[in-house]
Amino acid sequence: MSDLAGKKIIVTGAAGGIGLATSKLAASLGASVLAVDNNAAVEDTAALIRADGGHAEAVKADVSDENDVAGFVAECVNRFGNIDGLHANAGIIGAYKPFQDLTPEDWQRTLGINLVGTFLCIKHVAAHLVAQKSGAIVCTASVAGLRANAGPVDYSASKAGVISMTQTIAYELYGTGVRINAVCPGLIETGMTESIFTSARERGTEGRIGQVNPSARHGTPDEIAEMACFLLSDAASYVNGQAFPVDGGLSASHPWVFPQGKG
Ligand code: NAI
Repeated sequence: MSDLAGKKIIVTGAAGGIGLATSKLAASLGASVLAVDNNAAVEDTAALIRADGGHAEAVKADVSDENDVAGFVAECVNRFGNIDGLHANAGIIGAYKPFQDLTPEDWQRTLGINLVGTFLCIKHVAAHLVAQKSGAIVCTASVAGLRANAGPVDYSASKAGVISMTQTIAYELYGTGVRINAVCPGLIETGMTESIFTSARERGTEGRIGQVNPSARHGTPDEIAEMACFLLSDAASYVNGQAFPVDGGLSASHPWVFPQGKG
């Protein structure tokens, strides 16, 4: 099991889904957590952790606004004394349109939050980590950034960008003692994917969700949080510059036809 005792960790997108799960797990492993989200419900995340005996504070902020990012990074240092880790996880699905209908504004919004927002968090947190010569960053990318068919084009390109940024920044952080990795979730039940699950339940086809991966099911936020907390911990001390699918095996396959009679 990963150990985060005494670490000070910022989690973005912490009001729900994967960010909530990472915040709760990191706190249960001994970290002090600064939970960040542009949704005021992020206060509930910190309250939940404190009610469980953990350490957490919340900040409402927009990761695509550099002043906001600089503000919550300074807040983490003020409240906790330093920073040891970042889970840059906030993201949106975007306009969810066929590519022919996407406008430059749609692209700017998706990239502004998923790619530039992730970059801004890395930039401001890395300044502290490099100065203290230690720390770990985890970005939430997606299987949509690895291959086609897991999301619309602006979303998928933004996540491919997060993977590229992770690899490139790992080398820009050469010799600093700071690691950066990405996690690439498959289909996880969260606020972002709620409509997929709701409509499948309404149609009675819930059992088919996730059937195209060899684990034959969708994933949970806790299963992504486990990987994020491992990568944030010292147990991952020699793991750097990688993008790890946590997708039930979905991205392991060549194109495949679901066999008749299975599932
Ligand atoms: P979610 O919608 O439950 O959580 C995303 C959180 O990010 C929300 O609380 C939202 O308020 C916050 N957020 C959005 N824009 C923000 C901004 N500008 N500033 C601050 N916070 C902002 O969805 P989920 O699934 O937990 O998403 C977390 C990450 O996981 C996202 O980056 C998403 O792209 C990624 N992901 C999710 C998958 C899934 O199947 N749910 C699959 C692959 C990746």
